[in-house]
Amino acid sequence: MNEKQDTYIIAIDQGTTSTRAIIFDRHGEIVSTAQQEIKQFYPQPGWVEHNASEIWVSVLGVLAGALTEAEIVADQIEAIGITNQRETAVVWDRHTGHPIYHALVWQSRQTAGICEELRQQGHEELFRRKTGLLIDPYFSGTKIKWILDHVDGAREKAWNGDLLFGTIDSWLVWKLTGGQAHVTDYSNASRTLLYNIHELSWDDDLLEILDIPKGMLPEVRSSSEVYGHTVEHHFFGCKVPIAGMAGDQQAALFGQACFDKGMVKNTYGTGCFMLMNTGEQAVASQHGLLTTIAWGIGGRVEYALEGSIFVAGSALQWLRDGLRMIKSAADSETYASRVTSTEGVYVVPAFVGLGTPYWNSEVRGAVFGLTRGTSKEHFIRATLEALAYQTKDVTDVMEEDSGLKLHTLRVDGGAVRNSFLMQFQSDLLGTDVERPVVNETTALGAAYLAGLAVGYWKDRSEIAERWRSDRTFTPGMTETERQELYGGWRKAVKAALAFA
Ligand code: G3P
Repeated sequence: MNEKQDTYIIAIDQGTTSTRAIIFDRHGEIVSTAQQEIKQFYPQPGWVEHNASEIWVSVLGVLAGALTEAEIVADQIEAIGITNQRETAVVWDRHTGHPIYHALVWQSRQTAGICEELRQQGHEELFRRKTGLLIDPYFSGTKIKWILDHVDGAREKAWNGDLLFGTIDSWLVWKLTGGQAHVTDYSNASRTLLYNIHELSWDDDLLEILDIPKGMLPEVRSSSEVYGHTVEHHFFGCKVPIAGMAGDQQAALFGQACFDKGMVKNTYGTGCFMLMNTGEQAVASQHGLLTTIAWGIGGRVEYALEGSIFVAGSALQWLRDGLRMIKSAADSETYASRVTSTEGVYVVPAFVGLGTPYWNSEVRGAVFGLTRGTSKEHFIRATLEALAYQTKDVTDVMEEDSGLKLHTLRVDGGAVRNSFLMQFQSDLLGTDVERPVVNETTALGAAYLAGLAVGYWKDRSEIAERWRSDRTFTPGMTETERQELYGGWRKAVKAALAFA
């Protein structure tokens, strides 16, 4: 057992496919990790749902698991940080604490009809101007409306003040504090399609359009402060402060120490999300990037430009579980490296539509260029390459919107362990790709936010100094080759869109 005086920060990283708890020490190093997969529900094509109660139980499980593995006791934890899959909407009964419907996952397209109606009513510009987002099923607002429209008596209960809404961060704090705190942070609020990112308030006009009562929304707080304490029976007899909160992509930006304007990170998780820190300026995009809040700390709100790719790591899961071509995600590197190219095969993994820069929720996945000579190796390689192509789509528009040339891309997430993919990414972008020593930057970001709030860490410079590169991938492809490969991808996407 460690000495009693050693204290730690624990981060809960509630992602799309799994829940994790990671304990960090003062050096920002991982002491222990526990993980549990969560069940995915696909009730109809294009719909994705989670059981929010299962998510809550998985959080309790991983907290216990991480403490046990580290052989430390709960009162050695100075603070808890929470980071989460964003946009996913939970509506629950404030009296019973039970969700009234499954959580509608960010990937779910079941509100495409509502979005279409809103566009037809001419609301696109209003939503874009106020929230920095587009009208798309991706964001929480239309998901809340869908639940209130579809669950018997829900809207009436919501207006009576009996129902609460939260993204996963909010749901978990509410549960951990025994219903004491119904809060969210700026970064999560900025993904709901209901939050005015300039005025920093829930927007009455947007709420009225979607017929959502303000009273069911959480209070928006900074990303680094004490929101409440765990009730003892949920945290092994201890009242521990929950002191940091951010959506997973913003937390990764923080964990990658992208504190300066112009710094960019790309996370290869279930989806792929590239964020550029734009400082205190909310930059409006001309090319389908989102303007979002990076974090709010100590009275100062900072913004980011974001490119959102819906399918990245989940394409590898598809190879593993759907097509059974590989046994583990790691196998994909072995197979892809056995061939020198895809021989013209392109996989467009638009399983739930396409995000930046296309924003089309109708398009579905497609494969092009198959020949009799196409092997499993080519197919796997083409699927991996699709992650890099989608990233290039985003990088190109980010450079245009920001007027900045990208020289280095900091990367993280499960798929960055795949060195084939990282090399191909660097080749395709013509940019250095930097993989950090601590790849768990999402959880680390949440831990830093919590640790800063309770004085466990001093300030951002201390954090920035700690960031270390594990490996830098440098581009080795000729411009002609790059353009030829990327040209093929653009043609493939165009054809997939035309088929929708
Ligand atoms: O916006 C969705 C995002 O937060 C999901 O993240 O890590 O599950 O791909 P991830």
